[in-house]
Order: sequence, then structure tokens, then C-alpha cells
Amino acid sequence: MRPIGLRQSGGALKRLAIPCLSLLLLASLTLILPACTLQTGVGYNKGYSPEQPIAFDHSLHVGTHNIQCTYCHNQVERSRHSNIPALSTCMNCHAQVATNSPQIQKLREAYEKGEGVQWVKVHMLPDHVSFNHAAHLAKGVNCQTCHGQVETMSRIEQVTDLSMGWCVNCHRQPENNAPINCSTCHQ
Ligand code: HEC
Ligand code: HEC
Ligand code: HEC
Ligand code: HEC
Ligand code: HEC
Repeated sequence: MRPIGLRQSGGALKRLAIPCLSLLLLASLTLILPACTLQTGVGYNKGYSPEQPIAFDHSLHVGTHNIQCTYCHNQVERSRHSNIPALSTCMNCHAQVATNSPQIQKLREAYEKGEGVQWVKVHMLPDHVSFNHAAHLAKGVNCQTCHGQVETMSRIEQVTDLSMGWCVNCHRQPENNAPINCSTCHQ
């Protein structure tokens, strides 16, 4: 009984094997393909450039008026996150500069009421990833390597996909000699 049963089920398995394999292949393709397109940027917010509550223009401030990134983002060399400047930083200039502009009047109003401006966040990693600005700047990676030519952007735009592949590819470059074990970025 037993050997016959085995042979029969063996035969059934063989007959099933080909359609099963092609099903598996199909299933894995449908799983892998979207993952591939995601890796090249779609869905990771590359190109994201939301409208902001006040039309702050990096190209004007950095490009035309040569204000350093760290004049405003003044915590970036010391901390994990790069701060968005407080309105008091803006008012260092805008108490005098362009005071007739409706945008600056909006700014002054928010400042005087002690309200912040609700800037729309552009770059955002998932919570399970740890990233540290100060550590990268200390190794001489500059802002533009990761954020693009900000000094030409009238509205800030995310230029990379912020995918794991993007991080790991740079870490792998021999000149960077940066860690690629999982716990470096996932704690
Ligand atoms: C005069 C102040 C000022 C200067 C100088 C400045 N920034 Fe900003 N930055 C801001 C403000 C305000 C925002 C938030 C509004 C916005 O996104 O435009 C911002 C937003 C950003 C963001 C997007 C933050 C997010 O939500 O993901 C990046 C990236 C950035 N700045 C990089 C730079 C770089 C790089 C430089 C120098 C080349 C620079 N900034 C110079 C004020 C400044
Ligand atoms: C090695 C790549 C890299 C470099 C170099 C870098 N950034 Fe970023 N930046 C990122 C990533 C990734 C995020 C998103 C971080 C998150 O969501 O936790 C980010 C986010 C930001 C933000 C939003 C606030 C925050 O911290 O989430 C600002 C503002 C910013 N960067 C400004 C700068 C400035 C200014 C410089 C240069 C002084 C700089 N960055 C250099 C990768 C980089
Ligand atoms: C170091 C000086 C300085 C700082 C700090 C500064 N700005 Fe400006 N800003 C300028 C100058 C200069 C102009 C150009 C004025 C002109 O063309 O008449 C300008 C122009 C502007 C304009 C366009 C005004 C218009 O309608 O023509 C806006 C909006 C603005 N700034 C917002 C901000 C915000 C928001 C901050 C803080 C995050 C800030 N600025 C910080 C110097 C500064
Ligand atoms: C342009 C190249 C580049 C990119 C892009 C980059 N890194 Fe790095 N990263 C480095 C270098 C260089 C070091 C420093 C290695 C060393 O300490 O010698 C580093 C170090 C680190 C460290 C260890 C430093 C510490 O102690 O905090 C972490 C964590 C890290 N990176 C996370 C990330 C993540 C997450 C991303 C993507 C969102 C990323 N990196 C993108 C170049 C890069
Ligand atoms: C240099 C930083 C870095 C290293 C090293 C790294 N990761 Fe990631 N990982 C990321 C970033 C950034 C994301 C979020 C973006 C994404 O999903 O591509 C991520 C996302 C993930 C996700 C979630 C994917 C999803 O669909 O949500 C998993 C799972 C993961 N990583 C596993 C690993 C494993 C396993 C290792 C070690 C072999 C590793 N990572 C090493 C940066 C890193």
C-alpha cells in the first residue's frame, strides 16, 4: 500500500511541479517588480516639492544673497536633525528688509503673535531608520550631495529617493568606508 501511495503522490507532485513553479515565478515577479520601481524612486517622494505657507525662496536667500546654510540651519552640525530656523532668525533681517511685502507682513504677524509657521516637512525617513546629520557633516559630506543644488531652488525639492539602496550605495564606496551592517541604521 504505502509504496504505491508514495509513488502516486510523487507522480501528482511531478504533474503539479511545472504549473506550481510558474505560479511561484509569477507571484514573485508581481512581488519583486513593484519593489524595483519603488527602488528607483516612485513612491519614495523623489521630486516632492510641496507649497509652503510662506513662499520662502532658497535661491534668493542662498543664491542671490549668499546667506550660509548654517546661518539658518544652525543646529545641523551638532545634532541628528537639522532645525528649521525660528522666526526670530528671519526677523534679524525682515524687521527692516522688504517690510512692505505681503509675505513678510504675514511673517511679522506670526512672529508678533508668537505663533510658528507650519512649514510642510519635505524629507522624511520612516521611524525605524536612524540618520544623523552631524555624523555625516563631520566626515565632510556636504549638504548638496544629499539635497542637491538648494541654492538654485525657489521651492525646496527632494532630489533623491531616500531609499535604503541610496544610503547603502554611498556607504559602500571604498573612500567612505562607512558601516553597512543592519544595526547601523536600524536600531
Ligand atoms: C534664510 C534662512 C535659510 C537659509 C540660509 C537656508 N535655509 Fe533651508 N530652509 C529654511 C526654511 C525656512 C525652510 C522651511 C521652508 C521650506 O521648506 O522652504 C528650509 C527648508 C530646508 C530643507 C527642507 C526641510 C524638509 O522639510 O525636509 C532643506 C533640505 C534645506 N532647507 C536645506 C538648506 C541648504 C542645503 C541650505 C544652504 C545651501 C539652506 N537650506 C539655507 C531656511 C533657510
Ligand atoms: C548624507 C546625506 C545628508 C546630508 C549631507 C545632509 N542631509 Fe539634510 N537630510 C538628509 C536626510 C536623509 C533627511 C531626512 C531625515 C529624517 O527624516 O530623519 C534630511 C533632512 C533635512 C532637513 C529636515 C529636518 C530634519 O532633520 O529632518 C533639513 C532642514 C536638512 N536636512 C538640511 C540639511 C543641511 C542644511 C545640510 C548641510 C549643512 C544637510 N541637510 C546635509 C540627508 C542629508
Ligand atoms: C540675512 C538676512 C535675511 C534673513 C535671515 C532672511 N531673509 Fe528673507 N530676504 C532677505 C533679502 C535681502 C530679501 C530680498 C528682499 C528684496 O528683494 O527686496 C529677502 C526676501 C524674502 C522674501 C520675499 C519678499 C518679497 O515678497 O519680495 C520672503 C518671503 C522672505 N525673504 C522670507 C524669509 C523667511 C521666512 C526667513 C526666515 C526663515 C528669512 N526670509 C530670512 C534677507 C533675509
Ligand atoms: C553621500 C554619502 C552618504 C549617504 C548618501 C549616506 N551616508 Fe551615512 N555615512 C556616510 C559616511 C561617509 C559616514 C561616516 C563613516 C565613518 O564614520 O567613517 C556615514 C555614517 C553613517 C552612520 C554612522 C554614524 C553615526 O554614528 O551615526 C549612520 C547611522 C548612517 N551613516 C546612516 C545613513 C542613512 C540612514 C542614510 C540614508 C538615509 C545615509 N547614511 C546616507 C556617507 C553617506
Ligand atoms: C545605511 C543605512 C542602512 C543600512 C546599513 C540598512 N538599511 Fe534597511 N533601510 C534603510 C532606509 C533608509 C530604509 C527606508 C527606505 C526604504 O525602505 O528603502 C530602510 C528600510 C528597510 C526595511 C523596510 C522595507 C520596507 O519595505 O518598509 C527593511 C526590512 C530593512 N531596511 C532591512 C535591512 C536589513 C536586513 C539590513 C542589513 C542587511 C539593512 N536594512 C541595512 C537604511 C539602511
